[in-house]
Amino acid sequence: MVPYKAIKASNALINDSKSTAPRIAVFVGATSGIGQLTASALVATGTRVRIYLIGRKSSKERAQNFIQELHSISLKAEVIWTEGEASILGDVKRVCDIIKSKEKHVDLLFLTAGYVPFVPRDETAEGVEVTLSLRYYSRMMFILQLLPLLRQAKAARVISVLGGGLLERPSIDLDDLDLKKPGSFGAMQSQVLSATMNTAALERLAADSPSITFIHSCPGSVDTGNVRRGFEPDSLKACVQLGESISGTRRGGDDGGEEAEDGSKHGDYENAYQ
Ligand SMILES: NC(=O)c1ccc[n+]([C@@H]2O[C@H](COP(=O)([O-])OP(=O)(O)OC[C@H]3O[C@@H](n4cnc5c(N)ncnc54)[C@H](OP(=O)(O)O)[C@@H]3O)[C@@H](O)[C@H]2O)c1
Repeated sequence: MVPYKAIKASNALINDSKSTAPRIAVFVGATSGIGQLTASALVATGTRVRIYLIGRKSSKERAQNFIQELHSISLKAEVIWTEGEASILGDVKRVCDIIKSKEKHVDLLFLTAGYVPFVPRDETAEGVEVTLSLRYYSRMMFILQLLPLLRQAKAARVISVLGGGLLERPSIDLDDLDLKKPGSFGAMQSQVLSATMNTAALERLAADSPSITFIHSCPGSVDTGNVRRGFEPDSLKACVQLGESISGTRRGGDDGGEEAEDGSKHGDYENAYQ
């Protein structure tokens, strides 16, 4: 894992004069957690950046407060709220068409929407299991739709935050990519499948578009409340899940803790986001 000091030193190099900062950034999933913290960190560099913050209608109010916060950090950042249902592929295309009508290039696409299905199977109106859609199909749809703009950037980056290097398996059941076979749907199966497909697809995209950097990141254990998604807030299962999440985390500190690219601590419950 990259040491926190090295990450901070690298981030300190981001500035307008050396053109190291992304000018146009698209965040999908930055209405909370890792995406939100990363967008804040980007704005805090004080560089000129235009951010498209894509989120669903139910998060609009929270997002507006967040945008105000971002503007109080730096007036050089322009943040454009763009409403869209990330789990619906037709809506992803609609949102990308809006961005394509306004921009000539995209420098950064940051994908974090999604959660682990500790809950029963749930399908979107398009017939795709919700978490597989958010963690794989929708992410690939965003990339493919924005690829022409990413190719126009000098050094575009696409970052999919999920389970790179941890959850992939050498083979998956190609006859059951929907996890519809009896007993095949579950939290671990879904994570393994979406992570394996993310890596395979990003590797292929990277080979086809050498000017773009594709990163499949694994954030470790970060208490953003992500493991409780899908549960009623005070349900027994949510409490058990939270307990497992806490006991499974590694405590970090200034002397030994490692931090993620966005500066968030891995496994430091006291520094939790919520
Ligand atoms: N946190 C960890 O320890 C950890 C570890 C490994 C992998 N991951 C993965 O990394 C990614 C980012 O994690 P995080 O901790 O930043 O997650 P988070 O704080 O829970 O944020 C998840 C994002 O996904 C969006 N989302 C959730 N359900 C949605 C739905 N049905 N339709 C549309 N959008 C939806 C949320 O939007 P709203 O704000 O509208 O709800 C939010 O923007 C996730 O895919 C997560 O599974 C996280």
